[in-house]
Amino acid sequence: MSNITKEEIESFTAVLFSKFGLDFTCYESQSLSRRLNRVLFVLKKDTIHDLWAAMLQDHTLIYRFMDELSVGLTSMFRDPQMWSSLRSILYNDYKSRSQFDIWNAGCSTGEEVYTLGIVLKEMGILDSAKITASDMNHTALDIAKNGIYHKVKMIDYEKKFKEYNKFGYFNKYYSIHDDNHVLMNRDLVKNVTYKYHNLITDSFTGKYDFIFCRNVMIYFDAPAKEKLIQKFYDVLKPGGYLITGFFDSMLSDEEKKQFDCKLASLRILKKPEEISVVPVNRITA
Ligand SMILES: C[S@@+](CC[C@H](N)C(=O)[O-])C[C@H]1O[C@@H](n2cnc3c(N)ncnc32)[C@H](O)[C@@H]1O
Repeated sequence: MSNITKEEIESFTAVLFSKFGLDFTCYESQSLSRRLNRVLFVLKKDTIHDLWAAMLQDHTLIYRFMDELSVGLTSMFRDPQMWSSLRSILYNDYKSRSQFDIWNAGCSTGEEVYTLGIVLKEMGILDSAKITASDMNHTALDIAKNGIYHKVKMIDYEKKFKEYNKFGYFNKYYSIHDDNHVLMNRDLVKNVTYKYHNLITDSFTGKYDFIFCRNVMIYFDAPAKEKLIQKFYDVLKPGGYLITGFFDSMLSDEEKKQFDCKLASLRILKKPEEISVVPVNRITA
């Protein structure tokens, strides 16, 4: 494995930013170093300098680089307990809403999006949910859109699903695609819009009842994570929920003051409801 120095990482992220507008300067340095080593291996380059030289020759390599750098592990029904608590929240507060908005930020290859689809469908509220699923990895987004997964993965997903709903049948949510793959039911994602979105550099639009950003902040350093949480807070509706991952570090004390943290151990954070202030001169005895 190549030994990438801190200086190499700093100058590489600086030139990536100035030439391609890609900001990796706020990525956590150890994880970035690990990921860069992996990219060098996959792209068969010996050093960061070789990689940079190749990128200057072939501008399309930057897309491959981005996809390889951000590749992440995911699964359906990851952390089943969190999904069970979410079901209770949905049951109590969202079952009778005609519409609610969900953003799955950093959806990777889409397993979380299908999980959401199954949870909502089982509750009979899938049609009320408007879901945006985003990532900065083009290859992952394509896989998410296609919803075709290796059948071996289904063994683990079914086990996790059973922890969420021991009486349910996971296999009714997909059909056989070919000898090795299954195709997830299309109706699970009929209200999903997939989009390319970079959480560090792109603007945040819309207002959401739920934002899932699980196991993404592990990539970022503390200041970037703080900024991101503030941006999520701003686009959450009052009473809305931010759901982070078990691998994302806990919130700072300042952030904890902003959210209702009753379910923080499950990484479910609630933005407080807006308190309606009655002007003093309208209060009558
Ligand atoms: C480990 S996966 C998490 C997938 C899923 N949320 C889960 O918890 O199973 C992390 C994802 O974050 C994405 N990511 C990393 N940096 C990002 C950024 N700046 N903007 C948007 N997505 C990013 C990666 O492309 C990857 O798909």
